[in-house]
Amino acid sequence: ALALLAPQDLAGRTVVVSAGGTREPLDPVRFLGNRSSGRQGAAIAREAACRGARVTLLAASIDEAARRAAQHPAVDVVEVETTRELADAVDTATADADVLVMAAAVADFRPATTAERKIKKDGSAPQAVELVENPDILATVAHRERERLVVVGFAAETGDADEVLELGRAKARRKGADLLAVNAVGQGRGFGAVANAVTVLDGAGEVVGEAAGSKDDVARGLWDLVVPRLR
Ligand code: CTP
Ligand code: CA
Repeated sequence: ALALLAPQDLAGRTVVVSAGGTREPLDPVRFLGNRSSGRQGAAIAREAACRGARVTLLAASIDEAARRAAQHPAVDVVEVETTRELADAVDTATADADVLVMAAAVADFRPATTAERKIKKDGSAPQAVELVENPDILATVAHRERERLVVVGFAAETGDADEVLELGRAKARRKGADLLAVNAVGQGRGFGAVANAVTVLDGAGEVVGEAAGSKDDVARGLWDLVVPRLR
């Protein structure tokens, strides 16, 4: 019933949201990953659906709460594991989309090789794990699809408020996204926590809005900033 009260300002639109954290396998049982729950991305996906969009949620190891939060008839969930799988899924899903929101925490590096069998501590264990860089999905899509697609990124940064904003500004300019939602993490803030606060920057690094409160509040505030930018 509440969904009927949402503005239908995404009716007829197709949006793609990535959520969770990508994982890069070291061997059949181990991976390099991160602590992202996927709950903020799930809230963004659900809010878009409530506002009338068809949504593809690219789910990178999201937790159960995120899975429940995203449940809506207009949300299709596609499971991905690695950054390269996510990159392929983004390409496919955004082919006819209006908006891409990259809420997933993307592994920047992956092990240069994945062992086919479980790594043993005697003999086969590497001295150090060699890493190679993953593709930057957001920057690639933002630069390639500028005219058609509204591209939104998230940046979790550590430091005090000024440092976080400065890091966010530099990242916004570098990424070429339409919007970058910046939040402070560490010391119990951000990952997995109930409340959230983001400062939203445009591609020039200028502050265009803030969204705070629950993850649903942040999702609403974010879509309010995206809608006027739809192509
Ligand atoms: N992102 C991406 N592909 C990557 C890395 C990040 O699409 N290989 C996206 C994330 O989903 C997020 C945004 O880029 O929306 C910012 O991610 P972040 O990790 O903060 O930026 P990086 O450019 O990876 O910079 P760094 O980790 O060095 O701060
Ligand atoms: Ca990164």
